[in-house]
Amino acid sequence: MFVQVPRGTKDILPQEIRSWQDIERKSRDLFSVYNYQEIRTPIFENLALFKRSLGDTTEIVKKQMFVFKQGKDQFALRPEVTASIARAYLENNLDFGVKLRKLFYIGPMFRAERPQKGRLRQFHHIGVEAIGSSNPSLDIEVIELADSLLKVLGISNYKFQINSLGCHKDKENFGVLLKKSLSRHKKELCLDCQIRFSKNIFRVLDCKNEKCKKVVDTLDFGSDHLCRSCREQFELVLEGLNNFAINYEIKKQLVRGLDYYSGVVFEVTHPALGSQDALGAGGRYDYLFKELADKEIGAVGFAFGQERLMLASPKEEIPERLQTYIIPLGQEAAKKGLEFSRSIRKAGISCDFDYSDGSLKSKLKEANKLGAEFVVIIGEDEIGKGRAILKYMRQNKQEEVEFNKIVDYIKTLTSKAV
Ligand code: HAM
Repeated sequence: MFVQVPRGTKDILPQEIRSWQDIERKSRDLFSVYNYQEIRTPIFENLALFKRSLGDTTEIVKKQMFVFKQGKDQFALRPEVTASIARAYLENNLDFGVKLRKLFYIGPMFRAERPQKGRLRQFHHIGVEAIGSSNPSLDIEVIELADSLLKVLGISNYKFQINSLGCHKDKENFGVLLKKSLSRHKKELCLDCQIRFSKNIFRVLDCKNEKCKKVVDTLDFGSDHLCRSCREQFELVLEGLNNFAINYEIKKQLVRGLDYYSGVVFEVTHPALGSQDALGAGGRYDYLFKELADKEIGAVGFAFGQERLMLASPKEEIPERLQTYIIPLGQEAAKKGLEFSRSIRKAGISCDFDYSDGSLKSKLKEANKLGAEFVVIIGEDEIGKGRAILKYMRQNKQEEVEFNKIVDYIKTLTSKAV
Protein backbone atom coordinates (compact mmCIF):
# COMPACT_ATOMS: atom_id res chain seq x y z
CA MET A 1 0.00 0.00 0.00
CA PHE A 2 1.14 3.56 -0.74
CA VAL A 3 2.54 5.31 2.35
CA GLN A 4 0.84 8.68 2.73
CA VAL A 5 1.81 11.86 4.55
CA PRO A 6 0.99 11.61 8.32
CA ARG A 7 -2.41 12.95 9.36
CA GLY A 8 -2.28 16.59 10.40
CA THR A 9 0.79 17.35 8.28
CA LYS A 10 0.94 18.79 4.76
CA ASP A 11 3.24 19.02 1.80
CA ILE A 12 3.76 22.60 0.74
CA LEU A 13 3.79 22.28 -3.03
CA PRO A 14 5.65 24.45 -5.57
CA GLN A 15 2.40 26.14 -6.64
CA GLU A 16 1.77 27.26 -3.02
CA ILE A 17 5.30 28.16 -2.06
CA ARG A 18 5.15 31.68 -3.50
CA SER A 19 2.36 32.62 -1.03
CA TRP A 20 4.40 31.15 1.84
CA GLN A 21 7.51 33.03 0.80
CA ASP A 22 5.48 36.19 0.30
CA ILE A 23 4.20 36.12 3.92
CA GLU A 24 7.66 35.26 5.20
CA ARG A 25 9.33 38.05 3.21
CA LYS A 26 6.81 40.67 4.36
CA SER A 27 7.21 39.52 7.99
CA ARG A 28 11.01 39.61 7.83
CA ASP A 29 10.98 43.09 6.25
CA LEU A 30 8.62 44.41 8.92
CA PHE A 31 10.50 42.80 11.81
CA SER A 32 13.74 44.31 10.60
CA VAL A 33 12.13 47.79 10.50
CA TYR A 34 11.30 47.30 14.20
CA ASN A 35 14.92 46.17 14.80
CA TYR A 36 14.16 42.47 15.49
CA GLN A 37 16.82 39.91 14.57
CA GLU A 38 16.19 36.34 13.52
CA ILE A 39 16.91 33.44 15.87
CA ARG A 40 16.80 29.73 14.97
CA THR A 41 16.76 27.11 17.71
CA PRO A 42 16.60 23.30 17.37
CA ILE A 43 13.36 21.63 16.33
CA PHE A 44 13.58 19.40 19.42
CA GLU A 45 14.57 20.12 23.00
CA ASN A 46 14.89 18.24 26.26
CA LEU A 47 11.36 17.36 27.38
CA ALA A 48 12.07 18.94 30.79
CA LEU A 49 12.31 22.41 29.19
CA PHE A 50 8.70 22.36 28.02
CA LYS A 51 7.44 20.75 31.23
CA ARG A 52 9.02 23.49 33.30
CA SER A 53 8.16 26.39 31.02
CA LEU A 54 4.66 25.62 29.79
CA GLY A 55 3.55 23.80 32.95
CA ASP A 56 2.88 20.13 33.76
CA THR A 57 -0.87 20.53 33.85
CA THR A 58 -1.31 22.33 30.50
CA GLU A 59 -3.08 20.58 27.63
CA ILE A 60 0.03 20.91 25.49
CA VAL A 61 2.34 19.16 27.94
CA LYS A 62 -0.21 16.58 29.08
CA LYS A 63 -1.69 15.57 25.75
CA GLN A 64 -0.02 17.15 22.75
CA MET A 65 3.70 16.52 22.92
CA PHE A 66 5.58 14.37 20.43
CA VAL A 67 8.02 12.78 22.84
CA PHE A 68 10.85 10.41 21.96
CA LYS A 69 13.64 8.68 23.82
CA GLN A 70 17.26 8.36 22.81
CA GLY A 71 19.18 6.27 25.32
CA LYS A 72 18.43 7.71 28.74
CA ASP A 73 17.36 11.10 27.40
CA GLN A 74 13.81 12.21 26.72
CA PHE A 75 13.21 14.79 24.03
CA ALA A 76 10.16 16.53 22.59
CA LEU A 77 9.50 18.12 19.22
CA ARG A 78 8.92 21.77 20.04
CA PRO A 79 5.20 22.60 20.46
CA GLU A 80 6.13 26.29 20.54
CA VAL A 81 9.39 28.23 20.62
CA THR A 82 9.13 30.85 23.40
CA ALA A 83 10.56 28.34 25.91
CA SER A 84 13.39 27.41 23.51
CA ILE A 85 14.25 31.07 22.97
CA ALA A 86 14.31 31.75 26.71
CA ARG A 87 16.64 28.76 27.07
CA ALA A 88 18.85 29.95 24.19
CA TYR A 89 18.91 33.49 25.64
CA LEU A 90 20.14 32.22 29.01
CA GLU A 91 22.46 29.55 27.66
CA ASN A 92 24.21 31.93 25.24
CA ASN A 93 24.39 34.82 27.73
CA LEU A 94 22.31 37.07 25.53
CA ASP A 95 21.49 39.06 28.69
CA PHE A 96 25.00 40.54 28.42
CA GLY A 97 25.66 43.30 25.89
CA VAL A 98 22.54 45.10 24.72
CA LYS A 99 19.82 45.44 27.37
CA LEU A 100 16.91 44.48 25.17
CA ARG A 101 17.09 41.54 22.77
CA LYS A 102 14.50 41.72 20.04
CA LEU A 103 14.23 38.38 18.30
CA PHE A 104 11.98 36.92 15.63
CA TYR A 105 11.41 33.42 14.26
CA ILE A 106 9.64 31.60 11.49
CA GLY A 107 9.45 27.82 11.62
CA PRO A 108 7.59 24.56 12.22
CA MET A 109 5.96 23.55 15.53
CA PHE A 110 4.49 20.17 16.47
CA ARG A 111 1.42 19.35 18.53
CA ALA A 112 -0.32 15.97 18.63
CA GLU A 113 -3.79 17.47 18.37
CA ARG A 114 -6.85 16.01 16.62
CA PRO A 115 -6.48 17.48 13.12
CA GLN A 116 -9.25 19.64 11.65
CA LYS A 117 -9.49 22.79 9.51
CA GLY A 118 -6.83 25.20 10.78
CA ARG A 119 -5.55 22.69 13.34
CA LEU A 120 -2.51 20.68 12.29
CA ARG A 121 0.07 18.46 13.92
CA GLN A 122 2.87 20.26 12.16
CA PHE A 123 2.17 23.96 11.71
CA HIS A 124 4.29 27.09 11.48
CA HIS A 125 4.79 30.04 13.79
CA ILE A 126 5.78 33.56 12.80
CA GLY A 127 6.58 35.39 15.99
CA VAL A 128 8.72 37.72 18.04
CA GLU A 129 10.14 37.82 21.56
CA ALA A 130 11.44 41.03 23.13
CA ILE A 131 13.55 40.04 26.13
CA GLY A 132 15.08 42.33 28.76
CA SER A 133 12.42 44.83 29.82
CA SER A 134 9.20 45.01 31.83
CA ASN A 135 8.33 48.46 30.52
CA PRO A 136 4.64 48.57 29.45
CA SER A 137 5.65 50.66 26.41
CA LEU A 138 7.25 47.48 25.12
CA ASP A 139 3.90 45.66 25.44
CA ILE A 140 2.42 48.42 23.30
CA GLU A 141 5.18 48.11 20.72
CA VAL A 142 4.75 44.34 20.50
CA ILE A 143 0.96 44.53 20.12
CA GLU A 144 1.30 47.37 17.61
CA LEU A 145 3.82 45.24 15.69
CA ALA A 146 1.33 42.33 15.62
CA ASP A 147 -1.31 44.75 14.32
CA SER A 148 1.06 46.15 11.66
CA LEU A 149 1.96 42.66 10.52
CA LEU A 150 -1.70 41.81 9.93
CA LYS A 151 -2.14 45.04 8.00
CA VAL A 152 0.97 44.44 5.88
CA LEU A 153 -0.44 41.01 5.02
CA GLY A 154 -3.70 42.61 3.90
CA ILE A 155 -5.74 40.96 6.69
CA SER A 156 -8.74 42.84 8.06
CA ASN A 157 -11.71 42.09 10.37
CA TYR A 158 -9.50 40.74 13.14
CA LYS A 159 -9.90 41.61 16.77
CA PHE A 160 -7.50 41.71 19.71
CA GLN A 161 -8.77 40.27 22.99
CA ILE A 162 -6.73 41.43 25.92
CA ASN A 163 -6.45 40.86 29.65
CA SER A 164 -3.96 41.26 32.45
CA LEU A 165 -3.05 38.40 34.78
CA GLY A 166 -0.93 40.77 36.86
CA CYS A 167 2.18 39.89 38.86
CA HIS A 168 2.70 36.59 40.70
CA LYS A 169 0.68 37.68 43.72
CA ASP A 170 -2.11 38.99 41.46
CA LYS A 171 -2.18 35.75 39.53
CA GLU A 172 -2.64 33.89 42.81
CA ASN A 173 -5.47 36.26 43.75
CA PHE A 174 -6.96 35.72 40.31
CA GLY A 175 -6.91 31.97 40.99
CA VAL A 176 -8.71 32.50 44.28
CA LEU A 177 -11.38 34.70 42.67
CA LEU A 178 -11.80 32.22 39.90
CA LYS A 179 -12.17 29.33 42.32
CA LYS A 180 -14.80 31.25 44.25
CA SER A 181 -16.90 32.01 41.21
CA LEU A 182 -16.43 28.54 39.71
CA SER A 183 -17.18 26.60 42.89
CA ARG A 184 -20.93 27.14 42.38
CA HIS A 185 -20.66 25.48 38.97
CA LYS A 186 -18.19 22.71 39.82
CA LYS A 187 -20.69 19.93 39.16
CA GLU A 188 -21.41 21.29 35.65
CA LEU A 189 -17.77 20.95 34.63
CA CYS A 190 -16.30 17.98 32.73
CA LEU A 191 -14.32 15.36 34.68
CA ASP A 192 -10.96 16.80 33.54
CA CYS A 193 -11.99 20.26 34.73
CA GLN A 194 -13.05 18.91 38.12
CA ILE A 195 -9.42 17.79 38.50
CA ARG A 196 -8.13 21.08 37.02
CA PHE A 197 -10.29 22.87 39.57
CA SER A 198 -7.97 21.74 42.34
CA LYS A 199 -4.71 21.30 40.38
CA ASN A 200 -4.56 24.38 38.13
CA ILE A 201 -7.75 26.43 38.08
CA PHE A 202 -6.64 28.55 35.08
CA ARG A 203 -6.72 25.55 32.82
CA VAL A 204 -10.53 25.34 33.27
CA LEU A 205 -10.69 28.56 31.25
CA ASP A 206 -9.18 27.01 28.15
CA CYS A 207 -11.16 23.74 28.23
CA LYS A 208 -12.67 22.98 24.80
CA ASN A 209 -15.71 21.14 26.26
CA GLU A 210 -18.88 23.04 25.27
CA LYS A 211 -20.44 22.77 28.75
CA CYS A 212 -17.31 24.12 30.44
CA LYS A 213 -17.02 26.92 27.86
CA LYS A 214 -20.61 27.94 28.63
CA VAL A 215 -19.90 28.07 32.38
CA VAL A 216 -16.70 30.07 31.82
CA ASP A 217 -18.39 32.58 29.51
CA THR A 218 -20.94 33.50 32.16
CA LEU A 219 -18.43 33.94 34.98
CA ASP A 220 -18.20 37.37 36.49
CA PHE A 221 -15.10 37.84 38.61
CA GLY A 222 -14.15 41.48 37.97
CA SER A 223 -10.57 42.75 37.77
CA ASP A 224 -10.09 42.93 41.52
CA HIS A 225 -7.10 40.63 41.40
CA LEU A 226 -4.79 43.37 40.04
CA CYS A 227 -2.56 45.34 42.44
CA ARG A 228 -2.27 49.08 41.90
CA SER A 229 0.95 48.93 39.90
CA CYS A 230 -0.33 46.15 37.59
CA ARG A 231 -3.65 47.97 37.12
CA GLU A 232 -1.80 51.16 36.17
CA GLN A 233 0.42 49.26 33.75
CA PHE A 234 -2.62 47.60 32.15
CA GLU A 235 -4.28 51.01 31.78
CA LEU A 236 -1.14 52.41 30.14
CA VAL A 237 -1.14 49.57 27.63
CA LEU A 238 -4.83 50.08 26.84
CA GLU A 239 -4.25 53.80 26.40
CA GLY A 240 -1.42 53.03 23.96
CA LEU A 241 -3.69 50.75 21.96
CA ASN A 242 -6.39 53.45 21.89
CA ASN A 243 -3.85 55.97 20.61
CA PHE A 244 -2.97 53.63 17.77
CA ALA A 245 -6.67 52.91 17.09
CA ILE A 246 -6.11 49.16 17.53
CA ASN A 247 -9.35 47.22 17.59
CA TYR A 248 -9.46 45.37 20.95
CA GLU A 249 -11.82 44.18 23.64
CA ILE A 250 -11.01 43.31 27.23
CA LYS A 251 -11.77 39.66 27.90
CA LYS A 252 -11.53 38.80 31.56
CA GLN A 253 -11.67 35.06 30.87
CA LEU A 254 -8.51 35.23 28.77
CA VAL A 255 -5.66 33.55 30.67
CA ARG A 256 -3.89 31.69 27.80
CA GLY A 257 -3.18 27.97 27.79
CA LEU A 258 0.44 28.17 28.93
CA ASP A 259 1.59 28.63 32.53
CA TYR A 260 4.49 31.01 31.85
CA TYR A 261 2.32 34.10 31.32
CA SER A 262 1.91 37.01 33.73
CA GLY A 263 0.91 40.64 33.13
CA VAL A 264 -0.73 41.53 29.83
CA VAL A 265 -1.90 38.66 27.61
CA PHE A 266 -3.71 38.83 24.28
CA GLU A 267 -5.17 36.81 21.46
CA VAL A 268 -6.12 37.82 17.93
CA THR A 269 -9.23 36.23 16.47
CA HIS A 270 -10.62 36.22 12.94
CA PRO A 271 -14.13 35.22 11.82
CA ALA A 272 -12.89 33.42 8.65
CA LEU A 273 -11.21 30.74 10.76
CA GLY A 274 -14.33 29.02 12.10
CA SER A 275 -14.00 27.12 15.38
CA GLN A 276 -10.18 27.48 15.41
CA ASP A 277 -10.49 31.26 15.36
CA ALA A 278 -7.17 32.28 16.96
CA LEU A 279 -4.84 33.81 14.39
CA GLY A 280 -2.18 34.40 16.98
CA ALA A 281 -1.52 35.16 20.60
CA GLY A 282 1.04 36.41 23.04
CA GLY A 283 1.79 38.30 26.19
CA ARG A 284 4.26 38.88 29.00
CA TYR A 285 6.22 36.11 30.63
CA ASP A 286 8.43 37.90 33.16
CA TYR A 287 8.63 34.88 35.50
CA LEU A 288 9.83 32.34 32.94
CA PHE A 289 13.47 33.33 33.45
CA LYS A 290 13.08 32.99 37.20
CA GLU A 291 11.67 29.50 36.69
CA LEU A 292 14.49 28.46 34.34
CA ALA A 293 17.53 30.19 35.89
CA ASP A 294 16.41 32.24 38.89
CA LYS A 295 16.88 35.50 36.97
CA GLU A 296 14.65 38.58 36.91
CA ILE A 297 14.18 39.35 33.23
CA GLY A 298 11.10 40.93 31.69
CA ALA A 299 9.88 39.64 28.32
CA VAL A 300 6.93 39.88 25.98
CA GLY A 301 6.14 38.36 22.59
CA PHE A 302 3.61 36.83 20.26
CA ALA A 303 3.24 34.12 17.65
CA PHE A 304 0.90 33.87 14.68
CA GLY A 305 -0.02 30.55 13.08
CA GLN A 306 1.26 30.90 9.51
CA GLU A 307 -1.38 28.54 8.05
CA ARG A 308 -4.11 30.57 9.74
CA LEU A 309 -2.62 33.83 8.47
CA MET A 310 -2.88 32.33 5.00
CA LEU A 311 -6.51 31.32 5.54
CA ALA A 312 -7.36 34.87 6.61
CA SER A 313 -5.37 36.76 3.99
CA PRO A 314 -6.81 37.78 0.63
CA LYS A 315 -6.25 35.15 -2.04
CA GLU A 316 -3.73 36.59 -4.42
CA GLU A 317 -2.51 34.71 -7.48
CA ILE A 318 1.21 35.25 -7.67
CA PRO A 319 2.04 34.31 -11.28
CA GLU A 320 5.08 32.25 -12.16
CA ARG A 321 7.68 34.42 -13.80
CA LEU A 322 10.30 32.94 -16.07
CA GLN A 323 12.17 35.44 -18.19
CA THR A 324 13.58 33.27 -20.97
CA TYR A 325 13.03 29.80 -22.38
CA ILE A 326 15.32 28.21 -24.93
CA ILE A 327 13.84 25.84 -27.52
CA PRO A 328 16.49 24.00 -29.53
CA LEU A 329 15.42 21.85 -32.48
CA GLY A 330 18.13 19.21 -33.01
CA GLN A 331 21.53 18.35 -31.52
CA GLU A 332 23.51 21.25 -33.07
CA ALA A 333 20.89 23.73 -31.88
CA ALA A 334 20.99 22.20 -28.39
CA LYS A 335 24.74 22.91 -28.14
CA LYS A 336 24.18 26.56 -29.09
CA GLY A 337 21.12 26.77 -26.81
CA LEU A 338 23.06 25.49 -23.79
CA GLU A 339 25.72 28.17 -24.42
CA PHE A 340 22.98 30.85 -24.51
CA SER A 341 21.28 29.61 -21.36
CA ARG A 342 24.59 29.61 -19.48
CA SER A 343 25.37 33.21 -20.47
CA ILE A 344 21.81 34.40 -19.79
CA ARG A 345 21.81 32.83 -16.31
CA LYS A 346 25.26 34.30 -15.59
CA ALA A 347 23.73 37.71 -16.29
CA GLY A 348 21.20 37.00 -13.50
CA ILE A 349 18.27 36.52 -15.90
CA SER A 350 16.09 33.47 -15.25
CA CYS A 351 16.27 30.95 -18.04
CA ASP A 352 15.11 27.40 -18.66
CA PHE A 353 15.73 24.95 -21.44
CA ASP A 354 13.46 22.63 -23.35
CA TYR A 355 14.57 18.99 -23.09
CA SER A 356 11.38 17.44 -24.49
CA ASP A 357 10.98 15.41 -27.67
CA GLY A 358 7.66 16.90 -28.83
CA SER A 359 6.69 19.27 -31.66
CA LEU A 360 7.51 23.00 -31.67
CA LYS A 361 3.83 23.62 -30.85
CA SER A 362 4.00 21.48 -27.70
CA LYS A 363 7.29 23.12 -26.69
CA LEU A 364 5.73 26.59 -27.02
CA LYS A 365 2.78 25.39 -24.96
CA GLU A 366 5.22 24.35 -22.22
CA ALA A 367 6.90 27.81 -22.39
CA ASN A 368 3.48 29.35 -21.93
CA LYS A 369 2.67 27.16 -18.92
CA LEU A 370 5.98 28.21 -17.35
CA GLY A 371 5.03 31.85 -17.83
CA ALA A 372 8.05 32.57 -20.05
CA GLU A 373 8.36 36.12 -21.27
CA PHE A 374 10.82 35.51 -24.15
CA VAL A 375 11.47 32.31 -26.08
CA VAL A 376 14.61 31.74 -28.09
CA ILE A 377 14.03 29.23 -30.91
CA ILE A 378 17.04 27.68 -32.66
CA GLY A 379 16.45 25.26 -35.54
CA GLU A 380 18.60 24.00 -38.43
CA ASP A 381 17.78 27.08 -40.55
CA GLU A 382 18.79 29.38 -37.70
CA ILE A 383 22.10 27.54 -37.26
CA GLY A 384 22.75 28.07 -40.96
CA LYS A 385 21.94 31.79 -40.77
CA GLY A 386 23.66 32.39 -37.42
CA ARG A 387 20.44 34.01 -36.16
CA ALA A 388 17.89 32.85 -33.56
CA ILE A 389 14.17 33.53 -33.47
CA LEU A 390 13.25 35.63 -30.47
CA LYS A 391 9.57 35.27 -29.62
CA TYR A 392 7.81 37.81 -27.38
CA MET A 393 5.25 35.61 -25.62
CA ARG A 394 3.16 38.45 -24.19
CA GLN A 395 2.91 40.47 -27.42
CA ASN A 396 2.55 37.68 -29.95
CA LYS A 397 5.41 38.95 -32.10
CA GLN A 398 8.86 37.68 -33.08
CA GLU A 399 12.09 38.81 -34.69
CA GLU A 400 15.45 37.38 -35.74
CA VAL A 401 18.52 38.25 -33.70
CA GLU A 402 22.15 37.42 -34.50
CA PHE A 403 23.68 34.74 -32.28
CA ASN A 404 26.48 37.01 -31.00
CA LYS A 405 24.00 39.73 -30.02
CA ILE A 406 21.22 37.65 -28.47
CA VAL A 407 22.41 37.64 -24.83
CA ASP A 408 22.93 41.43 -24.73
CA TYR A 409 19.64 41.91 -26.53
CA ILE A 410 17.78 39.86 -23.89
CA LYS A 411 19.61 41.76 -21.14
CA THR A 412 18.29 45.07 -22.53
CA LEU A 413 14.77 43.73 -22.95
CA THR A 414 14.55 42.25 -19.46
CA SER A 415 15.98 45.34 -17.81
CA LYS A 416 13.24 47.36 -19.56
CA ALA A 417 10.60 44.86 -18.38
CA VAL A 418 11.71 45.42 -14.75
P1 HAM B 1 -0.27 29.61 21.09
O1 HAM B 1 -1.54 30.34 21.34
O2 HAM B 1 -0.19 28.24 21.65
O3 HAM B 1 0.88 30.53 21.65
O4 HAM B 1 0.00 29.54 19.54
C1 HAM B 1 0.02 30.71 18.74
C2 HAM B 1 -0.78 30.49 17.46
O5 HAM B 1 -0.32 29.31 16.78
C3 HAM B 1 -2.27 30.21 17.66
O6 HAM B 1 -2.98 31.40 17.89
C4 HAM B 1 -2.63 29.57 16.33
O7 HAM B 1 -2.80 30.56 15.32
C5 HAM B 1 -1.38 28.77 16.01
N1 HAM B 1 -1.58 27.35 16.35
C6 HAM B 1 -1.50 26.78 17.57
N2 HAM B 1 -1.74 25.46 17.51
C7 HAM B 1 -1.97 25.17 16.19
C8 HAM B 1 -2.27 23.99 15.45
N3 HAM B 1 -2.36 22.79 16.05
N4 HAM B 1 -2.46 24.09 14.12
C9 HAM B 1 -2.34 25.29 13.49
N5 HAM B 1 -2.04 26.44 14.13
C10 HAM B 1 -1.86 26.39 15.46
C11 HAM B 1 2.20 30.19 21.67
O8 HAM B 1 2.65 29.19 21.13
C12 HAM B 1 3.09 31.18 22.36
N6 HAM B 1 4.47 30.71 22.25
C13 HAM B 1 2.94 32.57 21.78
C14 HAM B 1 3.85 33.56 22.43
C15 HAM B 1 5.02 34.03 21.96
N7 HAM B 1 3.68 34.10 23.63
C16 HAM B 1 4.69 34.90 23.90
N8 HAM B 1 5.51 34.85 22.90
